[in-house]
Amino acid sequence: MNLFDLKGQTVLITGASRGIGKALALGFRDMGAIVYGTGSKESSIEWMHSENIHGRVADVSQVGTILPIIEEIKSKHEKLNCLINNAGIASNTPAVAFKEEEIYKIINTNFVGTFRACQAYYKTHKLLGGNIINISSVLGLVGYSLSSVYSGTKGAVIQLTKSLAAEWIGNNFRINAICPGFIDTDMNKMIKDKPQVFDKVANNIPMRRLGNPEDILGAAIYLASSASSYVTGQIIVIDGGLTSLLR
Ligand SMILES: NC(=O)c1ccc[n+]([C@@H]2O[C@H](COP(=O)([O-])OP(=O)(O)OC[C@H]3O[C@@H](n4cnc5c(N)ncnc54)[C@H](OP(=O)(O)O)[C@@H]3O)[C@@H](O)[C@H]2O)c1
Repeated sequence: MNLFDLKGQTVLITGASRGIGKALALGFRDMGAIVYGTGSKESSIEWMHSENIHGRVADVSQVGTILPIIEEIKSKHEKLNCLINNAGIASNTPAVAFKEEEIYKIINTNFVGTFRACQAYYKTHKLLGGNIINISSVLGLVGYSLSSVYSGTKGAVIQLTKSLAAEWIGNNFRINAICPGFIDTDMNKMIKDKPQVFDKVANNIPMRRLGNPEDILGAAIYLASSASSYVTGQIIVIDGGLTSLLR
């Protein structure tokens, strides 16, 4: 018996065009899963066609973009086995300088987008059951300068995860979250472009390095597979020791 078997399982990963989402899409494909991945625009998903990943364009900040993809997967494969809400944006804006438009762009992408995708999945699968993995952040757990709105959305995703896990447990839904620490993706370009800032961040991480996108894959496979069949409403932190080790 392979507890981590994902062969033939259908997985939908939002924000699969780059970074963590791309590593998850390629990793799940390599495990034999049928992977659907989204990007916000056509050019983001072009590479997926030659990699045996079903690319779909969906701006998660807009109403009704994920539902048709879940319905398509259900009609073609009978069921979506796992939804991974990964699409997200960040900014290094000081709290005092936030404009209304930027506040709502981050909230609508990171929190409302995740909520709507969960809702669409439940509506189409309430008789079939489901498995949701929300990608939150360690900044949803601890405070950090210049991350006020982003941290708020990621904390909200953690509470959303726990609340939906309680509400939908009777419909055979499991819902868990992963909190990555600082991962080497475009999202951290701002940090990487400034050597002094980068050194400060890296020196604060007990493992003394940023995570790689692939560092998130093992936990996602665990949560998507039957290895975690008795796990719901939980948060897995993957941060090189950042939030829990004193040095
Ligand atoms: N990197 C980190 O240190 C870190 C740490 C903790 C948590 N996270 C979380 O991990 C997730 C992935 O982050 P990442 O570092 O891989 O970021 P990334 O490299 O910047 O990639 C972001 C992904 O989200 C997609 N996206 C952004 N806005 C979207 C929208 N409105 N609709 C649809 N897709 C959208 C992007 O699509 P396009 O390519 O089309 O723009 C891209 O696929 C995010 O939720 C992030 O908050 C990251």
